[in-house]
Amino acid sequence: MRFVDLIEKKAEGFSLSDEEIRTMITGYVNGDIPDYQMSAMAMAILQRGMTPHETAALTMEMMHSGDVADLSDIKGIKVDKHSTGGVGDTTTLVVAPLVAACGGTVAKMSGRGLGHTGGTLDKLESIPGCRVELPIGRFKDIVNEIGVAVIGQTGNLVPADKKLYALRDVTATVRSIPLIASSIMSKKLASGADAIVLDVKTGSGAFMRTKNEAFELAKLMVDIGALTGRKVSAFVTDMDQPLGMAVGNALEVQEAVELLSGNVPASDPLFEVCILLGEQMLLMSGLAEENMQARKMLIDAVKDGSGLKKLQRMVEMQGGDASYLTSENMHKLVTVRRRMDVTAAKAGYIHSMNAEKIGTAAQMLGAGRASKTDDIDPAVGLVMKVRRGDRVEAGGVLADLYINDEKYLDDAVRLLQEAIVIDEEEPDERPMVYGLITK
Ligand code: URA
Ligand code: CA
Repeated sequence: MRFVDLIEKKAEGFSLSDEEIRTMITGYVNGDIPDYQMSAMAMAILQRGMTPHETAALTMEMMHSGDVADLSDIKGIKVDKHSTGGVGDTTTLVVAPLVAACGGTVAKMSGRGLGHTGGTLDKLESIPGCRVELPIGRFKDIVNEIGVAVIGQTGNLVPADKKLYALRDVTATVRSIPLIASSIMSKKLASGADAIVLDVKTGSGAFMRTKNEAFELAKLMVDIGALTGRKVSAFVTDMDQPLGMAVGNALEVQEAVELLSGNVPASDPLFEVCILLGEQMLLMSGLAEENMQARKMLIDAVKDGSGLKKLQRMVEMQGGDASYLTSENMHKLVTVRRRMDVTAAKAGYIHSMNAEKIGTAAQMLGAGRASKTDDIDPAVGLVMKVRRGDRVEAGGVLADLYINDEKYLDDAVRLLQEAIVIDEEEPDERPMVYGLITK
């Protein structure tokens, strides 16, 4: 069949067969199918959707378009977690060591941050000496020895996604739910984990702006897991404000260290989401039978310091200087030229916070990349001083900025002022977690 006929088939709302999806992905990766035809197909998929079966077939084809990590020589059930683009989301640096401290096996390959969201790799690299580009053999050795390692995706993992994502980015087809699901899941499956916990964000800082869309994406990814023989569960969580208080690389490492040192109350949203993700990871690993047991194990690993020790050990094994990772020393990670408070123009309640704008403000200070080749400054960023629902007085501090380069400082401040809406009325309470999808 000619590819034009497949585009027409999808445009008319029919399902593509496994064979047709294979033709599409192999043809696109090897160059037989040109970008203009693939663009039309992506738009047809955006408009018409795909069934879970089609999406699973697409995911598998994309996964097999390049290398697939073989982690079979790591013992135990390998669990991974993935969050769909959060702001101030430091969960990996907390959950991965906590789960390992509870006996789990976390072999995680992460992507780089782009745009207004930060990446775990950049956060790890803000620790002097810490390396994330490790040979796969070394990665497996570390996981076998201490139960956890976090590295960058190696080699030629899912080239179909690299090519297709770049195309979607310039053809207004990023927001297709089956295309997002297959993009995320193909990379997760190629990274080799047996069980995956997903955190699908919804709100101003997320790909999925509405709760319904987020649930649809979460369900689809859990379905893909079931159809491809992996255990997948997915939370839908709020991203209408940054998850943690820190937005910036070393600043988020600090927040993770504080949390693992037991200096953050359990009611803290970042802590709460970390515990929920960790519970699922322990359940899937067979290390706990029910949630409360898993929760207790994780909280004990915070209290007795074994989670923090695990993070220090992991960083050490990855070449980093773990002496920075204590509550006493961590301030040394953040030496900046200047600090500045952003203050409230009027009194009232914090009504809403646009997480995307806050993430972009941190990026303007140098904490994130606008394009793939940008350098980031590990020390800069911001620490929020308020959360949604808090009361502030005029002149009260909203955020503390950590600054080296002042080129876009005015823009960053303006964006922050815009992002934080102050109102006389106290806003409705909103849950952090909207639900959990499992099979
Ligand atoms: N993250 C991905 O990896 N892919 C998408 O398509 C969207 C978010
Ligand atoms: Ca944070």
